[in-house]
Amino acid sequence: MSETLTPEPIYQTDALIAADIDAYLDVHQHKTMLRFITCGSVDDGKSTLIGRLLYDSKMIFEDQLAALEADSKRVGTQGQEIDFALLVDGLAAEREQGITIDVAYRFFATEKRKFIVADTPGHEQYTRNMVTGASTADLAIILIDARKGVLTQTRRHSFLAHQIGIRNIVLAVNKMDLVDYDQAVFDGILKDYTEFACSIGISSFVAMPISGFKGDNITGLSANTPWYSGPSLMQHLETVEVDATVDARKPFRMAVQWVNRPNLDFRGFSGLIASGSIRPGDAVRILPSGKTSTVKQIVTLGADLDHAIAGQSVTLTLADEVDCSRGDVIASADSPPQVADQFEATIVWMDEAEMLPGRPYWMKIGAQTVTATVQQPKYQVNVNTMEQLAARTLDLNAIGVANLSTDRPIPFEAYADNRDLGGFILIDKMTNATVAAGMLHFSLRRADNIHWQAVDITREAHAAQKGQSPKLLWFTGLSGSGKSTIANIVEKKLHALGRHTFLLDGDNVRHGLNKDLGFTDADRVENIRRVGEVAKLMTDAGLIVITAFISPFRSEREMVRQMLPVGEFVEVHIDTSLAEAEKRDVKGLYAKARAGQLKNFTGIDSPYEVPEKPEIRIDTSKLDAEAAADLIVERVIGIWSPDL
Ligand code: ADX
Repeated sequence: MSETLTPEPIYQTDALIAADIDAYLDVHQHKTMLRFITCGSVDDGKSTLIGRLLYDSKMIFEDQLAALEADSKRVGTQGQEIDFALLVDGLAAEREQGITIDVAYRFFATEKRKFIVADTPGHEQYTRNMVTGASTADLAIILIDARKGVLTQTRRHSFLAHQIGIRNIVLAVNKMDLVDYDQAVFDGILKDYTEFACSIGISSFVAMPISGFKGDNITGLSANTPWYSGPSLMQHLETVEVDATVDARKPFRMAVQWVNRPNLDFRGFSGLIASGSIRPGDAVRILPSGKTSTVKQIVTLGADLDHAIAGQSVTLTLADEVDCSRGDVIASADSPPQVADQFEATIVWMDEAEMLPGRPYWMKIGAQTVTATVQQPKYQVNVNTMEQLAARTLDLNAIGVANLSTDRPIPFEAYADNRDLGGFILIDKMTNATVAAGMLHFSLRRADNIHWQAVDITREAHAAQKGQSPKLLWFTGLSGSGKSTIANIVEKKLHALGRHTFLLDGDNVRHGLNKDLGFTDADRVENIRRVGEVAKLMTDAGLIVITAFISPFRSEREMVRQMLPVGEFVEVHIDTSLAEAEKRDVKGLYAKARAGQLKNFTGIDSPYEVPEKPEIRIDTSKLDAEAAADLIVERVIGIWSPDL
């Protein structure tokens, strides 16, 4: 490789910027690439090992070496000239506190291969980072300190690596120099680990005794471990089969990232080939529609190709004018992936705010984004003991198994078979934060067996018979804001005007349908989900439905809005200040909440998210209940009815 294309001094960078990566990779394009992660705790010698790999692969140049030696002298290196850990301990916090707090990607290459290593933190609370680093890895190095053996965190990292679908596990028993290269120590650790690995379903792994510090069994085999006959770490990294090679043997799948239509004569479908290979003339099936066609050309920036395989980005043109849009999957016609809208999945929660079962999140899977709701977890896994625990939700760094459903059928594959079509992330619709990563297991059979039954008396027929347009008047506001009072008057007025109505009130519904629910965030989400479903059925029956629930979260109010035809959902914010609601305190609940006798009380220790654009806002400091009701009725049915 040419020195001019070398990224900036490696020991000063934590992650190389994209342009560097491209330039660097261009030079090595002919080689295969192995992505791997290193897992270990703060003092297992992870940074030293990575530094050693960079050093031995000659990725450090004279000037960098000089700087490194100077740095090493300053820091002190226990008698060794160079502290390899300094090569990679770039993060300031890491140097100060001795911990790695984020995922850092580093690059190096040998004559045979190029490598990207994700350096992931060892600390328990950073499951999130490890999952991020591991999601594209072909291989995981599980580092063990020979003096300490298999630890809780060894188990945790192995479990996560396995869950994330890493097929190649290397058990690197490090610091062998500190146990006098004793084979018995190595064998003991191997035995312990084998037992554990079997118990969580890891069917094979490679174990090796190493010393990152001294360089034993890193590039060549060490004279200090004559009893070890396996490969050195570098030999193994250079020869192990990478996922791209395995993927290329699977059936063809490509998620369409972009429909390329520069003019009327050309329509190409661009994407990254997730698995398999393709040639012009191959029969393909477009999912979810199931339509078939054949590949006409494989277009790339250069010349057309006569063959493309997993890992390549291409544009396909098809022989027929079939419908195919962004997010669809083009697959081999005779072995296409399944299409479903209900799944079981493993979910790793990555957000400070806990998962809210029933809340709609954006789900990015393949090249598409859909809406998904997750049910209450079936269980959560204690990542230290692998125990399955009952759980109502998942909080930061928790990993669990739950069913989820999407708002439309999507082509998918089990994550174990195809990471691209089985891996997903969840995004909060309000904050746009990535809140979870997930892995689909399988589709639920009930998804195939429950069909929507067409009925002859439609919602239009119901509404026509009642001579009205269905509406959902969704009252929201603090406890004691006056929702129920005003809603009650509104219903009376509508009733008197001959309208068919029904009032669903928070306190009442919580006595029946929702008596199993309390006031945690998760329970409030479920409360509103159920009320939304019921209200929707009632509008289907042609009714004007009025609901009075605090409904403190924007997400759920938005969810109900989306469930109804445009214009039918009318958000009515009963805007009473907290001070005023608390002053009234009709039910004495604010006093109790202030006294700490009532937990999760809205406005006190549970949030209320003010509607940003309600259809109607009632400022109760300006309007009394009667006047408010008049205004609402007028806005909703266009009739002013002050004297009822
Ligand atoms: S919501 O948040 O899930 O929409 P909902 O409207 O059903 O709440 O119920 C609110 C009513 O329950 C309040 O008007 C009050 O009477 C009662 N309540 C009891 N505990 C709480 C609490 N912790 N927070 C809010 N309301 C409570």
